[in-house]
Amino acid sequence: MRDQGERYDRIAEGYRRWWAPVLVRDAVATLDMVAADVAAGARQILDLGTGTGTLALAAIERWPGVRVTGIDASAEMIGMAEAEADRRLSPADRGRFTARTAYADALPFGDGKFDLVLSSFVVQLVPSRIRALREAHRVLRPGGRIAYTTWLAGDAPFAGDRVFDEVLEELGIRTEEADDGPADRVDGDADDHARDGRSGDLRSTRAAADGLRRAGFEQARATAGLLEHAFDPAGYVGFLTEFDEEDLFGGLVERRRVALEARLLERLTALPPGDLVLRLPTVTASARRAAARRA
Ligand SMILES: C[S@@+](CC[C@H](N)C(=O)[O-])C[C@H]1O[C@@H](n2cnc3c(N)ncnc32)[C@H](O)[C@@H]1O
Repeated sequence: MRDQGERYDRIAEGYRRWWAPVLVRDAVATLDMVAADVAAGARQILDLGTGTGTLALAAIERWPGVRVTGIDASAEMIGMAEAEADRRLSPADRGRFTARTAYADALPFGDGKFDLVLSSFVVQLVPSRIRALREAHRVLRPGGRIAYTTWLAGDAPFAGDRVFDEVLEELGIRTEEADDGPADRVDGDADDHARDGRSGDLRSTRAAADGLRRAGFEQARATAGLLEHAFDPAGYVGFLTEFDEEDLFGGLVERRRVALEARLLERLTALPPGDLVLRLPTVTASARRAAARRA
């Protein structure tokens, strides 16, 4: 079984460059789920799997009073988040963001420390979703809220994937030549999950709400969404080579890699306009830790 922290250490730069921009709009929309809580006084926020700091930094920029702690299994991703915070935030705002390496299912924080727990595109990666959600419940104060966005399982035919498969076949590149399996999403099946330790995409909005209830939360709600992103051909090649299929490309000899990249770019460029729009189903879920009972 592969560790997601180690994997993200290797692909951190590719993630920052090619995949974080695809997720940003839907990730940041997660903040809307807790806007009322912030207006009511929530101040301490935990961002699970902060990555390059997408959610954490957006929260700091949106709400002057909040402090955000980001955790991530990958030290390289934490480095990216800190560098991005240095670049984007004023010194005063920078002081409201801290980040550390940690796993979502073993949080290095005391009980009830946070008002809000947020997360974008991470709960599909944790080895045990229920353990991660129980940890989130533990570190929330009574009455605190969790909100997350992640992938909803489903068939998502995409011309970019079809072209990639065709080109691999045309060039006689078998995925076993170098492959260790698809990475973040989308085509992951049960075998991939067994191999890399992911808990996988949510099966339904109902499963998302049920999972939160099983972890001890109340008022669980989940809604489906659709992430849409128009790749340009070079951007999709970058996404494959430096992020999603980095293992495959990294394992090829130079001559094969160059040929694969060139053929891919040529074939993707020949697609009709609009064919490189990726459409993936998402789910946003939220719930509350029960308020403390009055004596
Ligand atoms: C798809 S990225 C999402 C990053 C960011 N939240 C965003 O929306 O752009 C997934 C992140 O989760 C982290 N991760 C994966 N498994 C984790 C775990 N068990 N505990 C904490 N972080 C984890 C990865 O290192 C990576 O940074």
